[in-house]
Amino acid sequence: MSNATPPESPLRVAERVRNIRISATKLMPMLAAKVGGCVSLGQGVPSFRTPDHIVEAVCRALRDDPTAGRYSLQPGMPALREAIAADILARKGARFDPETEIGVTVGAMEALVMIMLTVVERGDEVIIPSPGYASHAEQVLMAEGVPVHVPLRAADWGLDVDAVRAAVTPRTRAIIVCSPGNPTGGVYDDADVRALCDLALERDLVLIVDDTYDYMVYGEAPGTPRFSPVSQPELRRHVITVNSFSKKYALTGWRVGYVAADAAWMAELLKVHDATAVCAPTVSQHAALAALTGPQDCVDAMRTALTVRRDLTCRRLDALAPHFTYVPPRGAFYAMARYTFTDADSMTVARRMLEEARVITVPGGSFGPTGERHLRLSFGMDEAELTEAFDRIQHWVAAL
Ligand SMILES: Cc1ncc(COP(=O)(O)O)c(C=O)c1O
Repeated sequence: MSNATPPESPLRVAERVRNIRISATKLMPMLAAKVGGCVSLGQGVPSFRTPDHIVEAVCRALRDDPTAGRYSLQPGMPALREAIAADILARKGARFDPETEIGVTVGAMEALVMIMLTVVERGDEVIIPSPGYASHAEQVLMAEGVPVHVPLRAADWGLDVDAVRAAVTPRTRAIIVCSPGNPTGGVYDDADVRALCDLALERDLVLIVDDTYDYMVYGEAPGTPRFSPVSQPELRRHVITVNSFSKKYALTGWRVGYVAADAAWMAELLKVHDATAVCAPTVSQHAALAALTGPQDCVDAMRTALTVRRDLTCRRLDALAPHFTYVPPRGAFYAMARYTFTDADSMTVARRMLEEARVITVPGGSFGPTGERHLRLSFGMDEAELTEAFDRIQHWVAAL
C-alpha cells in the first residue's frame, strides 16, 4: 500500500449554489478586517442600539414566560401576527387575516427566499429594477430562475415603467418592487407603481413587494399616504409583501421579519418556512411584538438622526464634485456615488479605496449592471464615523 495521500475528488456542488455568490456588501467588511483601521460606509446597518423597552420586554419574557425559549407556532406567535396585521391595516389600509395570511420569518431575507422558491419555476424570469438589492438576484438564481435587470431612471432612480413593460416576456413570472430602494435611496412615484400594478394584472405577474424601508422617506411626515400594491383588492393574488424589523427598530441581529399574502399563497409559503426554519426565533418574536406595540418615539428619533446623516452625506458628496456625482437619496439610508476620475470597474475602485483610504464602500456593480461606475455609500453610521470616512475620501481623491 502506498503512503501517498490520494488526490481529493472534486467537490460536486449543485449548480444552483455554484451560480450564486456571497454579496459584496458582506465581503467588503471581511476584506476590511484584514486591512485594519477602516471606517465604514459599507453594510446597511444603522448605528442605533436596540431600544431599551424592547430589550426589557425580551428579558421579562425570558424570566416570566416558560414558553419564551421554545419553538413558537410555526407561522409565528399569534399576538405578533395580530400586531402585524393591525400595523399593515393602519399604515397601508390592507386587511390580512392574522390566522392565515401573516407569516413571521427569520428576517425579510427568509421571507424572500420562501417567495422565490414558491413562485419561481426553473427558467422563469424575474424583473429586478436595477441597481437593486443584490440578494434579490441571488435568491432568484437559487430558485433556478433568471434575474432580468431593467435599468431605473438614471436622473432620479425612479421606475422606468416603459422599460419594465418592454422587458416582459412569456417567461416573466414576477417583478421586484423595492421602494425606498437599496442601494439607490430612490422612491418610486405613485403613478409608476400604479402602472406596474396594471401590468401585473394584464400579464398575470406576481409583484414581490419588499417594504424593508417603507418607514424612511425624507421630508415626508410619518403616515403620509402613499400608494401601495398591497392595498389593492384586485391584486390580492398578485402581490406578496415582505417587511423587516431589522432597520426600523434597530433589530438587525435579531433576525425577524414577515411575509403577508393571500391565504392561498401563505399555505404554500409556509411549507418552505417549515422545511427551513420551523419558526422565527421566539425571543426575537417577543422583541418584534414589543417593537410594534410599544412607543414609537424610538423610530422618530432614528428618523431624525438619519435625516441629519443624509444631509451631512449630501454636503460631503457635493464637496467631492466633480470626482463624484450622485442623486440625493429620497429614502432609506444609501446613496449611489458615481465616480468620474477613472474608467476602472467598481470592484477595483472599492478595493483601492479600502486599501488606500481605509474606507469601506460597496462596489455598485454588485447591484446589477446599472450600478457599475458607482460606489454605494451607507450613511447608517453616526456623524463622527461619517465625517471621518468623508475626510479620508477627500484626502484620497485629492492625491489621485
Ligand atoms: C431591500 C432589503 N430587503 C431585505 C433585507 C434583509 O432584511 P432582514 O435583515 O430583515 O433579513 C435588506 C437588508 O439590508 C434590504 O436592504
